[in-house]
This record gives sequence, structure tokens and C-alpha cells, in this order.
Amino acid sequence: MKSIIDGLKGKDLITTQQWSVEELKETIKLSREFKRLYYYRGIKGIPRILERKTFIMLFYAPSTRTRSAFETAMTLLGGDAQYIEARMTREAEGEAIKDIAKMYEIFGDAMGIRILDKAIDFIYGRGNKVLREYAKWAEVPVVNMADDMFHPTQAIGDIMTIEEKLVNLENKKYAVMWGYAPVIRGYCSINSEILIATRFGMEVTVAYPRGFELDEKIIETARENSEKSGGSIELLNDYREAIEGAHVVFPRSWCSKKLAELGESSFGERELQIHQKYRDWRLKREDLDLLDSKAIITHVLPVLRGFEADDEVMDSEKSVIYEQAENNLFAKAAVLTLVMGGLL
Ligand code: CP
Repeated sequence: MKSIIDGLKGKDLITTQQWSVEELKETIKLSREFKRLYYYRGIKGIPRILERKTFIMLFYAPSTRTRSAFETAMTLLGGDAQYIEARMTREAEGEAIKDIAKMYEIFGDAMGIRILDKAIDFIYGRGNKVLREYAKWAEVPVVNMADDMFHPTQAIGDIMTIEEKLVNLENKKYAVMWGYAPVIRGYCSINSEILIATRFGMEVTVAYPRGFELDEKIIETARENSEKSGGSIELLNDYREAIEGAHVVFPRSWCSKKLAELGESSFGERELQIHQKYRDWRLKREDLDLLDSKAIITHVLPVLRGFEADDEVMDSEKSVIYEQAENNLFAKAAVLTLVMGGLL
């Protein structure tokens, strides 16, 4: 265990695929420990193991949860987080990423970056490339706070929640269903949930209308994960078939391949017309009868209520969305602790 903790100090987290299953399990174990300590003793229960450490957070895109969770995590651990909006930096004037990374490596002990959606005109891969450029130059660990491909800390918090609820993940069916939305959404949470669930041995089904296929490389990686873990991945074009007997259902919109290739600025209006054809792709109260009797409904949030899923679903006894958000706080605290060497 010590060698796992040693090995994570200074390590980037751009996708969970970069971390071994053992490293991810150790992170979840630490998240649970933080949660337990917090429940027993409140903030006093959390050791100030990142005291005088600074996490620099660079946001190219908005956030309701992630920013707040990372800031609270640093407060709990006795350190500080700096919130920096990319638009308020000199980058727009042409400052090189290398120089920004080198400055923040002096001022901080780790860097977080969020870059997705409108910030990259929804063009798939563009944000991840920027993030990797920061990681290339920064000597401090770089944590992906969501780019257009991955949202690793979200996935860690979510698998922690699913495991808390289902106890044993093997042979449990995790259905990720495309949901209608009148807005454009990217792939990071979908990719990340599929990748982590297949590594933890779950039987993943993904349902989407034709034209909304996912990145083939991600699916290939998920297949390889499944071969190693004993899980599986199945792709379907019927959401009811996908959720039948499911133990976990995640209803979430994502954009078409075409939009991810051409960008919102040139394909956005046509994209939303295509979405209109699939308005019935919405998780409804009656759909819950198709699930396993102990099934849970998850969502990374924000959920588009009345579009991706009905209020009766998201507010039902099966919904664990607020527990996910809570676990995401502790998962982020664990990631920050490990990459900044807080346990050493
Ligand atoms: N789940 C999540 O990343 O939420 P925000 O976009 O609000 O940070």
C-alpha cells in the first residue's frame, strides 16, 4: 500500500486509465476514510495534511459543483485553492501555455484545469490537447477537472457511490442512456463512467440513437478493460432494452459525432433539430419498472429535468444524485491528498 501512495505523489490525473485499478481502489479507500472522519467529527476530523499547500484551478469553462468541491476539499485539508478564470489571464493575448504552466508550478503545489464545451466549440479532443500541453510543461501534478474527453475525479466519486449502494459490482448492469436535451452536451462524463465501470467488472450497456455513437477508441479501451476485469460493454439503439434489469441507470445527453467534428458554431442549429427527433428518449417513472428492484439512478449533474429524465425519477427513492455530489467532495480530497503527497 505504501508503494501505491508513494507512486501517486506528483502523478497527473488526466484520465482514470492512467492510474492502475489498485491506485483507484486506494483513492476510493481514502475517500471513504475522509467521509467517515467527517461524519464522526466534522471538519475537525479531517487531518490538515495539505496545510500551506496551494491548488491552482484554471477554468476555461463554467462549473456549479467541481470548483466548489475542490475548494472545499482544500479547506478541509488545511490548504488553499486559487480560482482563476482563463479569460482573466494573459492567455488570450497570446501568452504561451508553457509559460503559464511554469508560473503556476512556482506558485502552487498542483494544478487543476477545466476546458470543455463552449470553450472549445465542442470540438472533441481540442480541450484534452490543451490539458496535456499543461501537463507536459508543469512539474507539479495536473488534475483534469473535466475536459472534452474525461472527467476522472467525477468517475472516481461515482464508482465509490455505486459500490456503496450495490456493495459488489461484479455482474451488475450499468446502463448509460442518451437522453434528449435542447442544449448541446459533451462526452467527458460518459467516457469516464464507461471506462471506470468496465475496469471495476461491471456489465455496461450504452444506448443512443443512431448518429450519437461514441469515440471508437474509448469503446475499444472499455472492451480491453472488460476482458481484464470480467465485465462487459454492449452498445444498443433502444434505451428500454438497455435499462432492462439494470442496477444503475445514468440518463444523460451527449452530442452527435457530426457536431463533435464540426463544432457548435457551424453545426449547432442542425444538431438541435436532430435532437428533436428523439424527444422520447427521457427516463420516465414508468421506465423504472424495467429495472432491477434495487436499482439506483445516477447523474453527474447538472441533470436537465424534464428532458433527460423526469422530476419523478430524479426525486424518486432510487435517485442517489446528492450522495454522488457528496462523495465527489471526498474523492477530490483524496485525489488532492495523494497527488500532493499529503500522506507521506
Ligand atoms: N458534475 C460536474 O462536473 O458539475 P459542474 O459542471 O457543475 O462542475
